[in-house]
Amino acid sequence: MARQRIRTGIASLDDEWGGFPQGRTVLLTGDTGSGKTIFSLQFAYSSCAQGLRTAYISTEEDIEDLKDQAGAFDWGKDDWEAKGLLSFVDFSSKRMSEISTSIEISVDLQKGNFDSLFAAIPIYVQTVIIDSLGNQTAHLSVTEFKGRFDLLVHSLHRRDLNTLIVLDSAISTTYNDLALFSAYGALRLSKHDNPFTGQRERVMDVVKMRNTRTQLQPLVFKIDHQGISIVDTMESKTTKK
Ligand SMILES: Nc1ncnc2c1ncn2[C@@H]1O[C@H](COP(=O)(O)OP(=O)(O)OP(=O)(O)O)[C@@H](O)[C@H]1O
Ligand SMILES: [Mg+2]
Repeated sequence: MARQRIRTGIASLDDEWGGFPQGRTVLLTGDTGSGKTIFSLQFAYSSCAQGLRTAYISTEEDIEDLKDQAGAFDWGKDDWEAKGLLSFVDFSSKRMSEISTSIEISVDLQKGNFDSLFAAIPIYVQTVIIDSLGNQTAHLSVTEFKGRFDLLVHSLHRRDLNTLIVLDSAISTTYNDLALFSAYGALRLSKHDNPFTGQRERVMDVVKMRNTRTQLQPLVFKIDHQGISIVDTMESKTTKK
C-alpha cells in the first residue's frame, strides 16, 4: 500500500507527490536567506490545515518574529494556535540559558544535545519542524554528529512523526552529506543566475525523496504573498523534450 502523504502547502509538490511521506524525516538545507523558514512555516500551516497537531521548534528565531513572518502570507491568517493545532517551542540557546538552573544544560546544548531537542517535542504532536539543527552541532566530531543524528531520526521515526529538519549553511558540508544519507528525503534551496535570462532566481533541488517519483532538474520557485510556489512546474518540465 502506498505510504500516506502530508501536503506541504506547495501546490506543485503536493499535486505531483501528494506531499511528504507520513512518519518520516525530510531535510531542508540551503544558504541563509534561501527560504528555509518560509518553507517550514508553510509546511507547518499546511499540516495544521490537514488537522494534524504540529510543533514548530525554533532554535534561532524569536517566536514572535516567526508568527509575524507567517502572518505576512495568505496561508498564515488561520489562528491554528488558538485552535490547539499549532505550538511554537522556543529552543534558542538564549531561552535555554534563561531557564537552565545548571551550567550543564547550556554546555550540553553547545555540544549538540539532540536528546534535549527531542525531549522538547510536545508529546501530543503528529508533525514537527526543527528550524534549525545547524546551531546545535557546534563542537561535535563527525562520528558524534552521525551517531546523534541517526539516533534523532530513528527516535522521530519510532514516534511516527512527520518531520522537517532545517540544516543551514552554518553546518559543514561533511555533516550535511552525512545527514542526507540518514534522512528519508532532502531538499536544497538556493539562488542562482539563470544564464539565459541573466536573472537571479530561487531554485529547489530535490536531492532525494525515497519511494517517490522525482525529477532531476532543480525547480524554480518564487516567494510572494502566497509564500513559496513553484514557477517552473513539474508538468511543463515533464512535457519538455
Ligand atoms: N512576503 C515576502 N514576499 C517575498 N519575499 C519574501 C517575503 N518575506 C521574505 N521574503 C524573502 O525571503 C527570504 C527568505 O527568508 P527565510 O527567512 O525563509 O530564509 P532562511 O533560509 O530561513 O534564512 P536564514 O538562514 O537566515 O534563517 C528573505 O530573505 C526575503 O528576501
Ligand atoms: Mg530561517
